[in-house]
Amino acid sequence: MNNDMENPDLAAAYSAVSATYKGQGDIHAACREMRAKSPIFVGDFIKQFGVPTNAGMQQGTRPTFALFSHRDVMSVLRDATTFTNGFIAEGLGAFFDGLIILAMDGEQHRRVRALLQPAFMPETVNKWRDKIDEVIRKDFLEPLVAQKEADLMEFGLHFPIREMYALIGFPTDNTELYRKYAAWTLAMIGGNQIDPEKAPEARRNAGIAVKLLYDSIMEVVVQRRADGSHGDDLIGRLLRAEFEGRMLDDHEVTTFTRSLLPAAGETTTRTFSSVLVMLLTQPGLLERVKADRTLVAKLIDETVRYEPVSTFKVRETAKEVVFHGVTIPPGSFVQCMVVSANRDEEVFEHADTFDIDRKLKPSFGFGFGPHMCIGQFVAKVELNCAINALLDLLPNLRLDPDQPAPVIEGAQLRGAKNVHVLWD
Ligand code: HEM
Repeated sequence: MNNDMENPDLAAAYSAVSATYKGQGDIHAACREMRAKSPIFVGDFIKQFGVPTNAGMQQGTRPTFALFSHRDVMSVLRDATTFTNGFIAEGLGAFFDGLIILAMDGEQHRRVRALLQPAFMPETVNKWRDKIDEVIRKDFLEPLVAQKEADLMEFGLHFPIREMYALIGFPTDNTELYRKYAAWTLAMIGGNQIDPEKAPEARRNAGIAVKLLYDSIMEVVVQRRADGSHGDDLIGRLLRAEFEGRMLDDHEVTTFTRSLLPAAGETTTRTFSSVLVMLLTQPGLLERVKADRTLVAKLIDETVRYEPVSTFKVRETAKEVVFHGVTIPPGSFVQCMVVSANRDEEVFEHADTFDIDRKLKPSFGFGFGPHMCIGQFVAKVELNCAINALLDLLPNLRLDPDQPAPVIEGAQLRGAKNVHVLWD
């Protein structure tokens, strides 16, 4: 067994995933050019950026098309019968060794979603809100106050995991274990590596991580069942849930729980980084938000439109479809350019301007349609608590002029690596 994987370094695992999904080129500029030229690209648009897609090694093996407008992206994401996800099980999903909800279609997807969703609905999450807030303030930010400077991404890397894993139902008296879970989860995501030199090691680590996670989560599940399967966290609910006319066994509870981890941590970390960058760099914004905290929610929504973490979604066509006179055969990959649709000038006035006062319209940073993010409400609560706590506890918060200015970057997963700040 690989020692590094037994005791993984979370920051290193996060940087490795950022590097894998960063690629090259300016995806906003490339999409802007496409919107001006043509609403459809015939071929693999993503290839130029050198990043993996959910299709994993199947990328490039079939006819591929990309769509750029708000209308087209919405029409694909909302129709999960014509545009399916099953191929993900053989791509990115292959590293997760089990059923992942994102790779399910039709009735199976509907049933699993109904099983998982209640743990993340507002009724449940609102009960946790005070606890989420308390953990952010007491455990993370109050100990920082005297320091007067920090890279806030150290906080950003840890707080979403701490909050989410408690909601999932991992023991809160051993949060040291959370760091390992998060690092192993990142190793699973990192298995989807397209650089031939790095791929063998990335895949090997993903294989080890998937097993370590399984064994460790299984221990928790067995213990929780022995303790009486209580609690309104995810594991407690799954242990009591009836699914397809029977109760779930320990293997199923473990696998379902593990399959949620990739979505639950670093997406919030990356979004947090972009929210901070916008807050600290847009003229006058910090003063406005500090004075009127109802604007925090708008700041988060506008960031998710303007800088979605995940820049595109791939779907497979279940039948022939036609877009803009181009026939797309069944079995093709359709790349839905979320990063483009979110800045479609036909829908968003001055779409390239960051404007928290704009009228809220659907955008796709949390997806759309049947696979829309199950955890968006939790993610927004966590981000809202974090931003409010920063504004309350760190007076005169500002970027550190002696450190490099933060940059939101990445062709597949976007965010800022560091956000160095000072306060008084
Ligand atoms: C700011 C943070 C987050 C962002 C930006 C985000 C984004 C997304 C997006 C874009 C999708 C749609 C994927 C697709 O259609 O292919 C999605 C799905 C999903 N997200 Fe999130 N997510 C976030 C946080 C979370 C959290 C905290 C959870 C915790 C449970 C979560 C769980 C899921 C799950 C399970 C799905 C798959 C749903 C399905 O297939 O039906 N996400 N997320």
